[in-house]
Amino acid sequence: MPKITLLGHSAVLLEGEKTKCIIDPFITGNPDITYGLKASDIKVDYVIVTHGHGDHIGDAIDIAKNNDATLIAPFELAMFCQSKGVQKLNPMHIGGSKRFSDDFWVKLTIAHHGSAYIDDNGNITYTGNPCGVVVELDGKKIYHSGDTGLFMDMQLIGELGLDVAMLPIGDNFTMGPQDAARAVEFLKPKMVIPMHYSAWDIIKQDPNEFAKLVGDKAEVKILKPGESVEI
Ligand code: NI
Ligand code: MN
Repeated sequence: MPKITLLGHSAVLLEGEKTKCIIDPFITGNPDITYGLKASDIKVDYVIVTHGHGDHIGDAIDIAKNNDATLIAPFELAMFCQSKGVQKLNPMHIGGSKRFSDDFWVKLTIAHHGSAYIDDNGNITYTGNPCGVVVELDGKKIYHSGDTGLFMDMQLIGELGLDVAMLPIGDNFTMGPQDAARAVEFLKPKMVIPMHYSAWDIIKQDPNEFAKLVGDKAEVKILKPGESVEI
């Protein structure tokens, strides 16, 4: 029974019987994280980063180093993290999958978005294509779309047989509630968890409106930052 915790925004902790993994670990400065969580509290075996934007790469480099965890990212972004001192890496790319252990499998999927890393001085480093990710943990398949617009090929991702889809609903930078509800039709997950909304005013959304749009097409689980669900 893996446990999914929405730490806040798109930062997600997946905890299986043996394996722990964090996706898009934006902890420091995350406006959603008002419950005292610090990057140094995170204990994981794997760190997955979907793209180089600050609200996704976040604390990934420090968390990977501090845990001696394996950082998984699209090749260019993985190399960028290596250049910042991350030593345990598994670069992947879109369409590629890998079984890391009996209980943990990862596949990278397309995402229509950008992937520039912008440092504190405003210097821009492009880190290749962004991605989404399907993780199989303890036999359950969890799709975290990263930041993306709606795309028809979500039907192909749905053919993997998803237990959970985690989708952005914030609009402006990603799908909004209506496109995300359409994504649920393509992905056919048993459960959908909205993310990437209301951390800032520009992506303010009411997740209950999203739930209405999804209707009975999937169970909509609205998690407040820090809340978990076991699947
Ligand atoms: Ni982004
Ligand atoms: Mn984002």
